[in-house]
Amino acid sequence: MRKWILAAAAAAIFVAPGIASAQSPILIKFSHVVAPNTPKGKGADKFKELAEKYTNGKVKVEVYPNSTLYKDKEELEALQLGAVQMLAPSNSKFGPMGIKDFEVFDLPFLLPNEAALRKVTEGPLGQAMLKKLEGKGMIGLAYWDNGFKEMSANKPLRMPDDYKGLKFRIQSSKVLEAQFRALGAIPQVMAFSEVYQALQTGVVDGQENTPSNIYTQKFHEVQKYTTLTNHGYIGYVVVVNKKFWDDLPADVRSQLDKAMKESTAYANKISESENAEALDDIKKSGKTQVIVPTGAEMAAMQRAMDPLYQDMAARVGKQLIDDVRKTAQGVTN
Ligand code: LMR
Repeated sequence: MRKWILAAAAAAIFVAPGIASAQSPILIKFSHVVAPNTPKGKGADKFKELAEKYTNGKVKVEVYPNSTLYKDKEELEALQLGAVQMLAPSNSKFGPMGIKDFEVFDLPFLLPNEAALRKVTEGPLGQAMLKKLEGKGMIGLAYWDNGFKEMSANKPLRMPDDYKGLKFRIQSSKVLEAQFRALGAIPQVMAFSEVYQALQTGVVDGQENTPSNIYTQKFHEVQKYTTLTNHGYIGYVVVVNKKFWDDLPADVRSQLDKAMKESTAYANKISESENAEALDDIKKSGKTQVIVPTGAEMAAMQRAMDPLYQDMAARVGKQLIDDVRKTAQGVTN
């Protein structure tokens, strides 16, 4: 695969942004792993629409959804090598590149609502985190929301004990690994595009994701029970290859900045309703039994996962965890 990415990157050198002409618009390949009818999918399509409009066709954006170009880990390598120009990986996927800070968002029960999250991402903390990406050859342009995660398996999941011994698919985050270990489960890192089949064939027993991802990937069709835990959050960082971005003509870059700002507002506006609709569709499908946990069950889950805050302090940074908590404190939706 790496060979293929390298070949694609070598070919991309010949379409450097500076040499665009009327015949050859500047090409932005925007790769992502989810379905087009999700908050991220719609955000990417909105960016394409606005970028092409504001640049008067000087820029062409090709959106590749559903891992059609690259899977999770490969797409980050492809971006660094210049084979694609733009991605929006979830916060949980930057750890393997050596940027652990974004895993703070994986801590369960950290953020009470999206307003609290927004205060973190739009404030100095979130902006300082984006800066760290530059050392890895990419620029963080924006934070996009998905939403809060639910748990699913082929057995009802209510109390921490119910998770014991089950294999759960996780994204490549040490915090998520620790989360499932705290429940006595067995975490297994897997690309998003492989989850449906892994659930269907029993390679893993369960998974966690947002209603929008569960519904559009049909996970609910191969999981008998879905528990509305809302225990953690999935969101994205829109990243662009740094050299590509820096080499853009200044007027084009500012038109693209405008397109990104507006598509960010759009993506973040629709994320909640997209997830609410997906949850409705999951319920209506009748393919999975939707469980609403009691207050006592949720309190037990929170207690079981609480040691993570200690255990993950060394990885994510105690100061960062404290700062995020302080910033999010008392924010109501
Ligand atoms: C996952 O890998 O579970 C998701 O975060 C995929 C995505 O981009 O929403």
